[in-house]
Amino acid sequence: MSKYNDIDIDFWKDYSDIETDSLWIIDKRDNSGSHNGDYHGNFVPQIPHQLFSRYTKKGDWIIDPFMGSGTSLIEAKRMGRNAIGIELQQKVLDTAAQRIAAEIGDSKMIQICGDSSTIDLQPTLTCAGIEKVQFVIFHPPYWDIIKFSANPNDLSNCLTLEEFKNSFGKVIDNTTKFLEKNRYCAVVIGDKYANSQVVPLGFYCMNLFLERNFLLKGIIVKNFGETKGKANQQGIWRYRALKSDFYIFKHEYIFIFKKIF
Ligand SMILES: C[S@@+](CC[C@H](N)C(=O)[O-])C[C@H]1O[C@@H](n2cnc3c(N)ncnc32)[C@H](O)[C@@H]1O
Repeated sequence: MSKYNDIDIDFWKDYSDIETDSLWIIDKRDNSGSHNGDYHGNFVPQIPHQLFSRYTKKGDWIIDPFMGSGTSLIEAKRMGRNAIGIELQQKVLDTAAQRIAAEIGDSKMIQICGDSSTIDLQPTLTCAGIEKVQFVIFHPPYWDIIKFSANPNDLSNCLTLEEFKNSFGKVIDNTTKFLEKNRYCAVVIGDKYANSQVVPLGFYCMNLFLERNFLLKGIIVKNFGETKGKANQQGIWRYRALKSDFYIFKHEYIFIFKKIF
C-alpha cells in the first residue's frame, strides 16, 4: 500500500476509473447527491474526485482555500476525507455549508469565512486536533475573468497581473505551510486574453510553485465545454475567431505538485 493513497497496486486492473493520462475529457458534470453546477465559476466534481483518489487516503485532511460552492468538500465527504474550506463571501459559504451538510458521510467538514492569503489557520487545525494536512486543492479566480465580489481581497479584483501573482503566492504560502512533507497539492486554472494577446495565467501560477521548490508532477489539460458566460454564443465566438487571429479557449490546466521540504 502506498503512503499517500488507498490504491492497492496488486489490484491495479480494478482502478480503470482513475485517470493516469495527462488529457482529461470530461463531458458530463457529476450532478449526483449535493453536487450542483449552478455556481458561476465552479469546477466539475470529477476534478477533486480524481485528485483525491490519486493523492489522498481515507481519513486524510484536505484544504480548499477557494471553496466557492463547496464542490471539493462535498466530494471529500463522500470519499471519507476530512476537509477545511475557506471562502471570502459569507453568502456563498452559507449555501455551500448547507449542501455539504446534506451530503452523506461522517467526515469532519470545516468552513471558514475569510481571506485565504492572510487567515490564520493554526487555531482551526489545533481545534481539529491535527498538525498538518495531506492535500491542498487550489481553484482560484482566473484573475478577473469572473468578478466574484466587490471585496478588495478577492483575487478577481486584482488590478494587475503582478498583484494577482502576489496575492495567489500569499495564499500558497499561507496554506501549504500546513501541508505534510512528501504530500501533494494541485491548482486548477485557465488562461485569459487581454490586449489582443494570451495571458498564460496557468503557467504564471505554475511558476509560483516552482519558485517555492515544489516538484512538478503533472500538467493535465482538461477540456471545458460551453461556460455560463458564453452560453449559446458558439456561433458568434467562432465568427470572431475566424475573422481575427485567436483561438477560443476549450481547455484549462490542472498542475500537480509534491512538497518535498
Ligand atoms: C473559481 S471559484 C472556486 C469554485 C469552486 N471550486 C466550486 O466548485 O464552487 C473561486 C472562489 O474563490 C473565492 N475567493 C476569491 N478570493 C478569495 C480570497 N482571497 N480568499 C478566499 N476566497 C476567495 C471567490 O469568492 C470564489 O468563490
